Amino acid sequence: MSSSSMDLLFTLLLLASSVALAKSSPSVPAIFTFGDSIFDAGNNHFNKNCTAQADFPPYGSSFFHRPTGRFTNGRTVADFIAQFLGLPLQKPYMELQIQISNGTLERLPSNGVNFASAGSGLLLDTNKVMGVTPIQIQLQQFQTLVEQNQIEKSIIKESLFLFESGSNDIFNYFLPFDTPTLSPDEYVNAMLTQVNSTIDQIYKLGARRIALFSLGPVGCVPARALLPNAPTDKCFGKMNVMAKTFNRRLEDIVNIIPIKYPGAIAVFGAVYGITHRFQTFPARYGFSDVSNACCGDGTLGGLMQCGKEGYKICNNSNEFLFWDFYHPTERTYHLMSKALWNGNKNQIRPFNLMALATNITL
Ligand SMILES: *[C@@H]1O[C@H](CO)[C@@H](O)[C@H](O)[C@H]1NC(C)=O
Ligand SMILES: *[C@@H]1O[C@H](CO)[C@@H](O)[C@H](O)[C@H]1NC(C)=O
Ligand SMILES: *[C@@H]1O[C@H](CO)[C@@H](O)[C@H](O)[C@H]1NC(C)=O
Ligand SMILES: *[C@@H]1O[C@H](CO)[C@@H](O)[C@H](O)[C@H]1NC(C)=O
Repeated sequence: MSSSSMDLLFTLLLLASSVALAKSSPSVPAIFTFGDSIFDAGNNHFNKNCTAQADFPPYGSSFFHRPTGRFTNGRTVADFIAQFLGLPLQKPYMELQIQISNGTLERLPSNGVNFASAGSGLLLDTNKVMGVTPIQIQLQQFQTLVEQNQIEKSIIKESLFLFESGSNDIFNYFLPFDTPTLSPDEYVNAMLTQVNSTIDQIYKLGARRIALFSLGPVGCVPARALLPNAPTDKCFGKMNVMAKTFNRRLEDIVNIIPIKYPGAIAVFGAVYGITHRFQTFPARYGFSDVSNACCGDGTLGGLMQCGKEGYKICNNSNEFLFWDFYHPTERTYHLMSKALWNGNKNQIRPFNLMALATNITL
């Protein structure tokens, strides 16, 4: 069969299944989230060994009105997606573990678990010295819960799996103090090997609705001002090229998922493109500043973490793309989440999260 008739067949199958299910109500009971700070709901905060923290003011000030360990002024992308699905926000795995072991909680909540750890990457060594939880350990945590029957198999099958990791690996590739031994291509390959094994494992544990998000333009984060070789008047091109290479190949992996893993459905969230549009047409999205951190200090607000002694803060965070040296504001996350939830094929493909969550039969 030619590839275009394969496409047609696939489209017809999808249409048939969405028609068959058009009448049914949303069927996603839970969300399981893996990745880094784009998703972390406070795992690092509950991990005493971890030095990558955002559990002090003014983090959380715009929505929770207190720090929660999230690396932004309010909700993350994972939080918004939960809200769009009508689910309560997923609690951090580390918090649940503490509550179960000290007797405050009897069993896991039914709406899912957030395993993401800010600063973590696909590679085991990424920010290891900070005590972050790499993706492999996040998976082990999930695996243990499944093996102990703390999560029902039937729930896992219907649940939404959110996955985003790799920005920290790529940023660290450009750190000045140790020269990388791998070429950019080899490094991206090593990252993608970990993506493959992650998908393999979550599929074996029962995951069927899988959303993988691309990296954003990592080379545009205000923290690039910390790197001696990065420009500060424009984004760091080499870093963005590497992120784009990773993203392209990630999308190839996503496209193969339904073929390689029978019964699984996967979407590719084009976070890079979504963010790039905010940067190209700021006014259209209500941004007055898409370069500087709202909260921080020094060049681009990128030389100091928000909340550390001597930091400065803007008074219109809703007009800023970046909240702190690495992370978007809640407003940026909100716009991004909306695009992923009900956006078009430029934003998420082959269909959006709303379709993945409500219209697809497994
Ligand atoms: C923290 O480190 C100690 C000592 O290495 C270890 O025993 C403990 O399990 C770690 N805790 C977490 C939450 O990783
Ligand atoms: C159990 O742990 C949670 C989370 O750290 C804490 O809020 C709560 O006070 C603890 N309860 C007891 C009885 O120690
Ligand atoms: C990941 O898996 C895909 C699909 O099976 C394969 O084509 C690709 O070579 C793998 N990539 C790496 C880096 O292992
Ligand atoms: C905050 O707003 C006031 C009034 O609009 C303005 O004069 C001031 O420069 C702003 N401060 C910052 C840090 O942007």
